[in-house]
Amino acid sequence: MARVTPAARTVRRRLLAWYDRHGRKTLPWQRTHNAYRIWVSEIMLQQTQVATVIPYYERFLKRFPDVAALARARLDTVLHHWTGLGYYARARNLKKAAEIIMREHGGCFPRTLDAVVALPGIGRSTAGAILAFAFDQRHPILDGNVKRVLTRLHAVATPVAQRDTETRLWQLADHYTPRAHVARYTQAIMDLGATLCTTRQPRCPDCPLATHCEAHRLGIPEHFPVRTTRAVLPVKKTTMLMVRDADEKILLIQRPPTGLWGGLWSFPECGNGDAVTKACRADLGLRVVADKPWPVLRHTFSHFRLDITPQPARLVGAASQLRETGPAIWFDPRKPGKLGFSAPVKQLLKNICSN
Ligand code: ADE
Repeated sequence: MARVTPAARTVRRRLLAWYDRHGRKTLPWQRTHNAYRIWVSEIMLQQTQVATVIPYYERFLKRFPDVAALARARLDTVLHHWTGLGYYARARNLKKAAEIIMREHGGCFPRTLDAVVALPGIGRSTAGAILAFAFDQRHPILDGNVKRVLTRLHAVATPVAQRDTETRLWQLADHYTPRAHVARYTQAIMDLGATLCTTRQPRCPDCPLATHCEAHRLGIPEHFPVRTTRAVLPVKKTTMLMVRDADEKILLIQRPPTGLWGGLWSFPECGNGDAVTKACRADLGLRVVADKPWPVLRHTFSHFRLDITPQPARLVGAASQLRETGPAIWFDPRKPGKLGFSAPVKQLLKNICSN
């Protein structure tokens, strides 16, 4: 680490003093040094807001109180507890990593950065945060909030997604991270980014770092971080076949373990414009009559939008004719059980039941 500048010392001191007065200290994952609990929280918080995470976090830990319980659990049960949080690879990786911790680390969460980063789903920043919060180890972090704070503090004018910008930001993150009070500092910089140094309308007059902030001096905090303009998200289309039998049970298939919505239970799909009865016959071996399709449901992923046409259909032949190419069930919405669903499928199942 290069020599710490007096400015960096002041930034740390002000940030810590601000945190003591204004920071968040009573979030459910802040009253513990249990690495497992902190790990789960950091994974949930990766793409999701604190307020959304809290109830999921509490339910998850009740059901999977330690790494052994998570490693033992069925993936279906884990995905069920993730239903609605999105980015389901996070849940699959948690489960996989729990198995590795049991197998290769004797059930103890590893304590070195290299070993933590080697676990699926944990990048350098998340690993640093876990080790700082759980074991008070000094590691810089660079999540979205911290990137925003640092790019403003130094008016970093190159695109954040660029490799050399990232390298520079890691150097800055390292430079500011103190040896002492690392957990408090880590939480403080995250909180500053989440509450004052926000993407839009940052509250610079309340910011403890305003006098050090180059973007504030220039009067253009919202110009940072610089993003490369993203092309308009492409739109893909699909038709979800909501086939009901005479007992009002609904055909669901389990998606392949990897890829989009991997391992979640979903409706069979066909291409838009395919003749529905033909598709059911050809792909599923089922004779159905199609009802009127429901209005299109749009779901946005990070890289594309999916326009879903929900297509209700009634089974007229026997359910036993189902041609199974993977796991499939006739789902009884009156006895929902513990399955994982994507948000649109959960919504559609709810709508079917109230229809
Ligand atoms: N985002 C990521 N980690 C967080 C934490 N520990 N507290 C609040 N927000 C966060």
